[in-house]
Amino acid sequence: MREPGSPRLAWALTGSGHYLRECLDLIGQRPDVDLFLSRAASEVLAMYGHDPRRLRERIVCYRDTTASAPPVGLFYRGRYRRLVVAPATSNTVAKMVWGISDTLVTNIYAQAGKCRVPSIVFACDTEPAMETEAPGGRVMVYPRRIDLENVDRLGSFEHTTVVKRFDELLAALEQAGE
Ligand SMILES: Cc1cc2nc3c(=O)[nH]c(=O)nc-3n(C[C@H](O)[C@H](O)[C@H](O)COP(=O)(O)O)c2cc1C
Repeated sequence: MREPGSPRLAWALTGSGHYLRECLDLIGQRPDVDLFLSRAASEVLAMYGHDPRRLRERIVCYRDTTASAPPVGLFYRGRYRRLVVAPATSNTVAKMVWGISDTLVTNIYAQAGKCRVPSIVFACDTEPAMETEAPGGRVMVYPRRIDLENVDRLGSFEHTTVVKRFDELLAALEQAGE
């Protein structure tokens, strides 16, 4: 792991409970992460018992409060060597696949690509039937064909590594020297 300073790791959280705690644990172990929260992520964090304000005390945290996503400028100034989007909702994955950048997270993914900064995306909806973490406990979820197809489509994008399981996320980070 590199020393704190530049370039850093940009980590985007979206509004998903799937492996949210595990991702937060990873983020908490690192001194080199800046966080980017979708509007849904800010809400969902609280639903899973995490206090976004306490997170902001420890970590540089950009929230989705503007239309033009000014923090994307940081990618052009070389602040980040890599973007991690984990966990990534099917909503954010769909927007990425269709080139839409109308949220903070989809904007930084698009701008990372335009700056040739590589991204790792941990998609949530990856199997036709899967168990996931709801605020009240484990539930079954049955992702639709469109959700699964979008994950596969995103896997063919330039500067993008898509992972479908948490252990694959760990392996991709390690392989990338993170
Ligand atoms: C408690 C809770 C858990 C959620 N978990 C997921 C999830 O695992 N996967 C998913 O695709 N959407 C999930 N959602 C729905 C997203 O938050 C919703 O689609 C939101 O619009 C996504 O916005 P974003 O992609 O900008 O973060 C969840 C919503 C709630 C309230």
